[in-house]
Amino acid sequence: MNAQEILSKLTLEEKVMFCSGKNFWELEALEKMGIPSIMLTDGPHGLRKQQGSSDHLGINQSVPATCFPTASLLAATWNPSLIYDMGVAMGKECLKENVSVLLGPGVNIKRSPLGGRNFEYFSEDPYLSAEMATAMISGVQSQGVGTSLKHFAVNNQEYRRMITDAIVDERTLREIYLPSFEKPVKVANPKTIMSAYNRLNGTYCSEHPWLLDQVLRKEWGYQGVVVTDWGANNDRVEGLKAGQDLEMPGATKETNQRILKAVQEGTLSLEVLDQSVLRVLKLIEDTAPTSHLRDGMAEKVTAHVDAQAHHQLAKTIASEGIVLLKNDEDMLPLSSHDTIAVIGKMAKMPRYQGSGSSYMNPTQLDTFFDKLSERIHIHYEAGYGDDGEVIDAAIIDKACDIAAKVDKVIVLIGLTEAYESEGFDRAHLSLPKAHDELVKCLVAINPNIIVILSNGAPVMMPWLHSVPAVIEGYLNGQAGAGALVDILYGDINPSGHLAETFPLNTEASKFFPGGKTQVLYQEGLYVGYRYYDRFNRDVLFPFGHGLSYTSFEISKLEASAASELMILQFEAKNTGKYAGKTTVQVYVKDEQASVHRPEKELKGFIKVDLAPNQSGVYSINLDPRAFSYYDVAQKDWVLENGSFILYVGLSSQDLRGCLRVYIEDGKLISTEVTCDKNTKAAADSAQTPHVDNTDPWTLLSFEFETALHTAGMVIRAEKESITPKEYTLNTPIADMKKSLITVLLMTIIKLSTNAMMKKQNNAGMKKMIESVIGEIHLRNLAMMSNGAIKLKTAEALLLCLKGQCLKGIKHFFKG
Ligand code: BGC
Repeated sequence: MNAQEILSKLTLEEKVMFCSGKNFWELEALEKMGIPSIMLTDGPHGLRKQQGSSDHLGINQSVPATCFPTASLLAATWNPSLIYDMGVAMGKECLKENVSVLLGPGVNIKRSPLGGRNFEYFSEDPYLSAEMATAMISGVQSQGVGTSLKHFAVNNQEYRRMITDAIVDERTLREIYLPSFEKPVKVANPKTIMSAYNRLNGTYCSEHPWLLDQVLRKEWGYQGVVVTDWGANNDRVEGLKAGQDLEMPGATKETNQRILKAVQEGTLSLEVLDQSVLRVLKLIEDTAPTSHLRDGMAEKVTAHVDAQAHHQLAKTIASEGIVLLKNDEDMLPLSSHDTIAVIGKMAKMPRYQGSGSSYMNPTQLDTFFDKLSERIHIHYEAGYGDDGEVIDAAIIDKACDIAAKVDKVIVLIGLTEAYESEGFDRAHLSLPKAHDELVKCLVAINPNIIVILSNGAPVMMPWLHSVPAVIEGYLNGQAGAGALVDILYGDINPSGHLAETFPLNTEASKFFPGGKTQVLYQEGLYVGYRYYDRFNRDVLFPFGHGLSYTSFEISKLEASAASELMILQFEAKNTGKYAGKTTVQVYVKDEQASVHRPEKELKGFIKVDLAPNQSGVYSINLDPRAFSYYDVAQKDWVLENGSFILYVGLSSQDLRGCLRVYIEDGKLISTEVTCDKNTKAAADSAQTPHVDNTDPWTLLSFEFETALHTAGMVIRAEKESITPKEYTLNTPIADMKKSLITVLLMTIIKLSTNAMMKKQNNAGMKKMIESVIGEIHLRNLAMMSNGAIKLKTAEALLLCLKGQCLKGIKHFFKG
């Protein structure tokens, strides 16, 4: 029987049963129909299948699985085929563990470097994010395992993530925040898409008809399952109407009762319910490991997992995504004669993965200390204590003593778990104080310093001018240490390029993370390098930056018409003495736009691999979308006639060549080599009034307000406090006036999380639990307490808190 036939035989109650999970990670089964239960679990940089009790915060231990580097590093490889291989490996590990859907990848745009979950997202650029996600999904799904593209959409911060209302104009959505979902949906067809916790322009993403039905289903043709983020369901019936098929975890079944009632009362059509149930059944059909449904087979689908080969793959990926940020006077690679001191606790206790729902249990873990010790004798000192904010002079002195005795000093510093995690955003871009202080002291003793950073997102480097070599190691997974050592000695020539800007300050994050209930995306399109380009701001390291031990030359740019639009060709040559890879990036600038457009935008890239003196000719396809902007009035992408510049470079600021192309009626008419790769022409359109460039926010606010005004949207004023009458199920309990009920609730929550906290020695997890508690609301309690607090109880409590206790009691006892 196929899914359609099964559907036709299900009772209404059975259909409704499939609208939510059986427990934290599994879907319902119906044995009499041969429908097995399938498991969906995290993701996204390795499998996190929990062994004991379940939670969505990554607290309880999971089965061992290969811990790959996190998305910041994956994107820095600029190598989709490696990410595809990683997907295949993760798919195999899922098959082995009977997991049907891996919850990832996450493709939210890094709107601000302060985003707590940036380590788990690919880039500030939608084009690069989309390429990476498409590769990962295709890899995992090639094994018959599903993925969940998350978090749809505009889930760019942790602060108030359960309720915040992201106010974004449509052009910005279409050009910045949606494309990282659009291409993966159209090309790789993820089996599921996870709707985000937050609201978008007033409506929860889990019940957003425009987002889920209009854009995702109607425009992009998505046929798979939309699953809520864990606990993201707001109004289940409205969700179904909008195209939200599956609620997770949903074990209480209370919301199913509401679906049943809505169908019986005629407020929800059976057709809508059937569509969602059919999609869920098809998902089970496609991904169940043991299934009568899958290809008509009853036997178990098995996979052979070669843990050692996956460890090696994790190392290869790390070695392509680690970024050499600075290498003055060829400090690197090291010579085998150099005497070395290694300073930094992270050499022995690596920070190699993220925190929160992606936190996993690696099959093995290499440390930098061990890997380097396999090669040479090293002198080691911790350099700092566990609390990064405490500067301990005695520990630093010990480090300085050994630094004085060696040729070169390798210092491992970075963000500890307490500084970045799911659940909270970063307050600043600084490294732990003790880490910065250590570097400053060491430089005074021995200037031959090599800093290796472990962090999932940009940091500031106040010591940069006096440190000759810096490596961005990112969170490089269980095998990353070996890759770092190979890079240090030149066995691997570094080829990672940043997929995000490292700024000098947080100027561009002025409206991040917004107020208590809403966040205005005032910068519009000008996220990441688009902001720094437009306002001519210096940065620490630009988007796309990454050094190599060799050098490359780019020449002979040519564009020719092609069926899609055009093909850009160029020659790349390795002009140095080491074999090496680099990423050649193509940026497009619209010279004659009738609307404001970014100075230039990434529209293509290719990773090239060349021996010394070798050259190669490469081509990149540029389709109409590469030149178009989204016109909200026409509800379509528009490719204007006129001239565009194609820049080819090794970073967004290291442009090696350019070509001017003329496009008319969607066709390439002519090309011209006389363009200036260094000239910054005024990109602001005739529609933008002249505003002094020194104040970006006057200009950006004007553009934002104009866009909202044209769409008929009004910005609601953020209230400092609310009255009990205004409370809803979504009001954080901590925001409510102190009362017997709120104090009792908070005490119960704290008591029940105390055990979790005590068990926890991961500082990031601890901080995450604290922040989750601080933002918890009544709906959350009902969705995530595994039945301990019923939705009806939460509603009754709400009525009481609003001063209508009698009504609340009646509601509680209502059948
Ligand atoms: C996270 C998701 C994750 C889910 C299940 C949520 O809190 O936002 O990314 O997949 O939990 O663990």
